[in-house]
Amino acid sequence: MLPRRRRARTGSPGGPARPGPACPCPPRFPGIAIHLAEPRMGRSRRAFLTRLALSKGFRVLDAYSSEVTHVVMEQTSAEEARCWQERRAAAASPPECTHLELLDISWFTESMAAGRPVPVERRHRLEAAVPAKGPPGPVRVLPYACQRPTPLTHPNTSLSEALEVLAEAAGFEGSEGRFLSFRRAAAVLKALPSQVTAPNQLQGLPHFGQHSCRVVQELLEHGVCEEVERVRRSERYQTMKLFTGIFGVGVKTADRWYRDGLRTLDSLHEQLQRLTQQQRAGLQHYRELSVPVQRPEAEALQQEVEAAAVDILPGATVTLVGGFRRGKLHGHDVDLLLSHPQEGLEAGLLPHVMCRLERQGLVLYHQHHRGHPEDATRRTRHSHTMDAFERSFCIFCLPHSPGAAAGGAHRRAVRVDLVVVPVSQLPFALLGWTGSKHFERELRLFSRKERGLCLNSHGLFDPEQKMLLRVASEEDIFRHLGLEYLPPEQRNA
Ligand code: CTP
Ligand code: MN
Ligand code: MN
Repeated sequence: MLPRRRRARTGSPGGPARPGPACPCPPRFPGIAIHLAEPRMGRSRRAFLTRLALSKGFRVLDAYSSEVTHVVMEQTSAEEARCWQERRAAAASPPECTHLELLDISWFTESMAAGRPVPVERRHRLEAAVPAKGPPGPVRVLPYACQRPTPLTHPNTSLSEALEVLAEAAGFEGSEGRFLSFRRAAAVLKALPSQVTAPNQLQGLPHFGQHSCRVVQELLEHGVCEEVERVRRSERYQTMKLFTGIFGVGVKTADRWYRDGLRTLDSLHEQLQRLTQQQRAGLQHYRELSVPVQRPEAEALQQEVEAAAVDILPGATVTLVGGFRRGKLHGHDVDLLLSHPQEGLEAGLLPHVMCRLERQGLVLYHQHHRGHPEDATRRTRHSHTMDAFERSFCIFCLPHSPGAAAGGAHRRAVRVDLVVVPVSQLPFALLGWTGSKHFERELRLFSRKERGLCLNSHGLFDPEQKMLLRVASEEDIFRHLGLEYLPPEQRNA
């Protein structure tokens, strides 16, 4: 029992049996009283989880007391959990004797999904995560790519690349399920801290089905995987890769061309009437666009665009996003977000910037898309993947690159995406446009499946409360989702 003073503070007026926050109905699981420990959870997230548990008939105690049977923590190490418990135990005299579970949020989410308290297993217990002395045991990898850091370089590149070839090939065939399985297995490898040297090291890793295991095993044993090599050599894969590598060509178009017997860029040149304006521009500049953009080139372009934007609208900002924000040294294009600290001033900026750059001779091609600001909320609610920002998909003529010799042999075509973002949505757009694509996909899936929230580049929507959640930074978004913050360099899933 707690001392009187503490009891008075922690207990609700109605007596000890009453759950903390208002609960309309009697608890369905009387033996269980959950306390959500706040340190890493954040207020709004805790309130959200509390409502969720109450709605499922769980008893949640707002304050910690001797009645609590299950303490749930998030993003908390076993070490921190122990300290937390020790502090609580020290504060309570005489010592508490009830059996208390210190649990990771996984127990809570699984219980909510099941609609009843799931049995506590070792993996749920925070003490189970204490690193054992002696040889390193199996690494614990969380299932969603947004739950774990993924650096740009990692020790399993040849394995992850092989799985990505199979993912890509499955994508070309429209097999979404197979695409995701291979892509997820590849992403798990990218997050491992050490090299996989034996197939049994894959045991317990999420998303490693039979097929992916077999591929890795073959690579470890023979250095190559027959299936991967067969795919790489196939006419189908090579042609689809060639066609989808053209600006403006997606899998559907490439597949149609393939089925119509087209195989080469020359054959496309002969059928220009089949191509959109964008695809013609892509075909025309194909060779130059297939040379990766280097970081100094991307930074030079960012500066050109920023200079133009600031000149037209003082205070305007231009942020380099996409792969370069994740620390990549080269990429297939340059992604830039245009904004202004005063909401609304960014409207109408892009056409002026494009005019200025055209006059400077920087623009080889551009296609402007009007924004649909009225769509933003609707899109967030209905979790559209494509955002509704005003944008321009362009091909720029690279300015003289800083490192290039005089005479500027380096002027060449480069793909650029310009996106206009109202400042209130900037954290979401930053998060959405920094990628990687797989990271974004997983983050949105996690939001929906694990948190019941809709996330996109415009906002984060709570369908239960029917409201958009307010944020001031990318960190806030991770906090709302109950995820440990991952800086851009750790989003290379
Ligand atoms: N993106 C988006 N909407 C689009 C195109 C892209 O939200 N219409 C996002 C993607 O989800 C991705 C980011 O913008 O997270 C960058 O996309 P992209 O340039 O295709 O990929 P990068 O990661 O930048 O890779 P690369 O370096 O090859 O350009
Ligand atoms: Mn990019
Ligand atoms: Mn892009």
